[in-house]
Amino acid sequence: MNRIRVAIQRKGRLSDRSLDLLQSCGLRFARSKDKLYWYGKDFPIDLLLVRDDDIPRLLIDGVCDLGIVGENIAEEVILERNCADALTQLRKLSFGGCRLSLAVPEDSAIGSALDLDGCRIATSYPALTSSILSGRGINAETVKFSGSVEIAPGLGTADAISDLVSTGTTLRANHLVEMEVLFESTAALYGQTGQLADEKQLMIDRLLSRLDGVLLAAESKYVMLHAPRDAVEEITRLLPGAENPSLMNLEGDSNRVAMHAVCRETVFWEHLEALKDAGASAILVLPVEKMLA
Ligand code: PRP
Ligand code: ZN
Repeated sequence: MNRIRVAIQRKGRLSDRSLDLLQSCGLRFARSKDKLYWYGKDFPIDLLLVRDDDIPRLLIDGVCDLGIVGENIAEEVILERNCADALTQLRKLSFGGCRLSLAVPEDSAIGSALDLDGCRIATSYPALTSSILSGRGINAETVKFSGSVEIAPGLGTADAISDLVSTGTTLRANHLVEMEVLFESTAALYGQTGQLADEKQLMIDRLLSRLDGVLLAAESKYVMLHAPRDAVEEITRLLPGAENPSLMNLEGDSNRVAMHAVCRETVFWEHLEALKDAGASAILVLPVEKMLA
């Protein structure tokens, strides 16, 4: 079987963005609402829709070749299974940002991580939490929860929690305060570490090169402007992440030229204002849809 299986989260924070990303790499799937296996249409790349927590194991066990999952979950499974070599992070992605944080009830006497020595911490990430805390010489007992960790302190089963925080809404709603960040995470693309059949590896390399193009295009902009001839050097310096702009003559104006450049970093208003101050005019910033290095 030389088809590639990619595991993504079926329902949750990463689902839509994961699917969008694969689709912008040109992948299309014969989908069905209830089926959890989507067959790849133009490429031998199929999709498996699963619980995010299962994704690292599916890779480690060789059931899937690629998976998009939060670094927090990958790290937890790696520590739990003590298998750092079995999983390879291929690309860090720009969505799914969150942090694993310690939180305590609003009226708690616990003021810092150091006060947690000998305490009980409710968490869905016992391995990651214990490893970070014991690395800092703090010995706390973890109580494993698969969900609704926030209710543990109220139930009296734990003194603190270690849970994912994104906006902080869940903590506030449960009268908990964030005390310390233990681990920062984003979504990432992971692969198995083992050797794959040549055909599969070739297909994965091709997908990765498209993915790099998509990721690069997402933050790149095509900038066009008019500049005084004698300010071209300064303006080139002011264009964020641009190299070698194209220069074109402007009909009927020998003192000014048109400059076009691809900026490979985010272009902020401040950049445009600095360009204008340097003499640029008619500044246009356009999105870049695709890019192949
Ligand atoms: C996390 C975490 C909280 C919530 C925090 O769950 O367990 O419930 O997100 O987000 P907030 O700070 O924006 O309120 P997640 O989305 O990972 O769901 P899962 O544990 O069911 O996978
Ligand atoms: Zn989950």
